[in-house]
Amino acid sequence: MPLLELPSMESKPKQLHLFMFLLLLTNCLSSSAITLESSFPQQALPTKSGYLTVNSTTNSSIFYTFYEAQKPRTTLFETPILIWLQGGPGCSSMLGNFYELGPFRVSFSLRHNVEHLTLERNPGSWNHVFGLLFLDNPIGTGFSIASSPDEIPRNQHDVARHLFTATRKFVALDRLFENRPIYLTGESYAGKYVPAFGYYTLKKNEGLPKSRRLNLAGVAIGNGLTDPETQVGTHALSAYYSGLINEKQREKLEMLQKEAIRLTRSGNWSEATSARSRVLRTLTNMTGLATLYDFRRLKPYEDELVAKFLSNVEIKRALKARESISFDVCSDLVGKALHEDVMKSARYMVEFLVKNTKVLLYQGQCDLRDGVVSTEAWMKKMKWDRIGKFLEAERNVWRVNGELAGYMQKWENLSHVVVVNAGHLVPTDQAVNSQAMIEDWVLEKGLFATGLVKQKPSNIDSRR
Ligand SMILES: *[C@@H]1O[C@H](CO)[C@@H](O)[C@H](O)[C@H]1NC(C)=O
Ligand SMILES: *[C@@H]1O[C@H](CO)[C@@H](O)[C@H](O)[C@H]1NC(C)=O
Ligand SMILES: *[C@@H]1O[C@H](CO)[C@@H](O)[C@H](O)[C@H]1NC(C)=O
Ligand SMILES: *[C@@H]1O[C@H](CO)[C@@H](O)[C@H](O)[C@H]1NC(C)=O
Ligand SMILES: *[C@@H]1O[C@H](CO)[C@@H](O)[C@H](O)[C@H]1NC(C)=O
Repeated sequence: MPLLELPSMESKPKQLHLFMFLLLLTNCLSSSAITLESSFPQQALPTKSGYLTVNSTTNSSIFYTFYEAQKPRTTLFETPILIWLQGGPGCSSMLGNFYELGPFRVSFSLRHNVEHLTLERNPGSWNHVFGLLFLDNPIGTGFSIASSPDEIPRNQHDVARHLFTATRKFVALDRLFENRPIYLTGESYAGKYVPAFGYYTLKKNEGLPKSRRLNLAGVAIGNGLTDPETQVGTHALSAYYSGLINEKQREKLEMLQKEAIRLTRSGNWSEATSARSRVLRTLTNMTGLATLYDFRRLKPYEDELVAKFLSNVEIKRALKARESISFDVCSDLVGKALHEDVMKSARYMVEFLVKNTKVLLYQGQCDLRDGVVSTEAWMKKMKWDRIGKFLEAERNVWRVNGELAGYMQKWENLSHVVVVNAGHLVPTDQAVNSQAMIEDWVLEKGLFATGLVKQKPSNIDSRR
């Protein structure tokens, strides 16, 4: 049920105008343009939000929104916190917040010929039993502030350093946050941020007194770009066997892939990134698909809804974001700063993490950019003495409330989940199932209950 209405002006029906806040279009204009607190549903406001300074000289800061657990299973002092990082490089985690896994999502409807943006409760929100923290990362992204372009990180080490500082500051905001287990999660280019942040944290923790460590408990990556050299080599085969291209097109695509791999191996980073873009552009052109993020979609994901929503000054004020920032879903400036980082691998960091904490890799099955085949290709290469056991483990059928939700394979600290009927943005496409997945993984039940590694394929049902 829509809880918030942003009426748009009628004049240009194809364009959404955020004009002002009115509650459900009632008692228009005359008396009270209803104040924000009453029109932005109270329960949709973050528990806390604002800025975490990462450079005390320049005041560059990471913007955050935090949503406390709706139905915590334990006292809040022990309730896990999930951190969400968007990809890009340079895309805002507000996309995750308001389009994927946050408690309320922006959607669009047409009523009485007027276009509306509405906020709707997300039945699969990831803050159902956990605290949920969105960070606009790196600085320069979304509502985050980079005091100068030179300060925007150009490599994963600097990204991780800022994330560590920001998260330490967040944890210090409230005694309630001090010791809670932290799980790093994210999607797409966060396939590098998440391992980099996790790796940095475990290394940094070693040299810190217990009170100043981050209580890292696991990392989860959705449709990640983690080992680009391996992943860029999989598009042609995967599209060919999906019936989307023919043999001749496959050969052409393979040539382009080889070029991207060659440039990566020779450390020609900028050219390697451009070569990967050529592969993806060519695949898009050959298939005529609306988006590689989901081969079923006739229209791309509508992430511009989030940009429209966040361009409203009342909303910025409610979120405690700097009002002068003109919000972009993805920052070109940050994209440029990390251009030479794109083809650099973060696989060695995942190899370190799987020996020291738990790791979940999940993908929507219909993604052609960073999908199942591309992830399995680098998992096979992992330097980890249990990888053979993992590869031999059975893939279990996973159901939620009796319905097929996907497949899962696990060995000790490494779990892999394929989410069926989902593309690149898994929580957008399968909200409830993605919630079941993340909760069961963190709490080690259902799918992830220890001792479930069977010789025989089994059917597992996560009852909600
Ligand atoms: C803070 O910004 C200054 C000026 O750009 C830079 O020299 C310094 O390395 C930055 N520090 C951190 C922690 O990023
Ligand atoms: C950074 O913030 C502090 C405290 O708000 C302020 O005193 C200082 O002038 C700021 N520095 C810059 C470079 O904006
Ligand atoms: C990078 O690759 C491009 C295209 O192959 C080439 O023109 C350029 O010289 C290379 N640069 C370096 C530093 O090797
Ligand atoms: C693919 O590229 C060719 C040549 O640039 C163009 O003529 C064609 O329309 C493109 N096809 C699609 C589906 O975009
Ligand atoms: C799995 O992770 C735990 C920490 O959660 C660690 O103590 C253990 O050594 C890891 N197991 C393996 C086999 O690496």
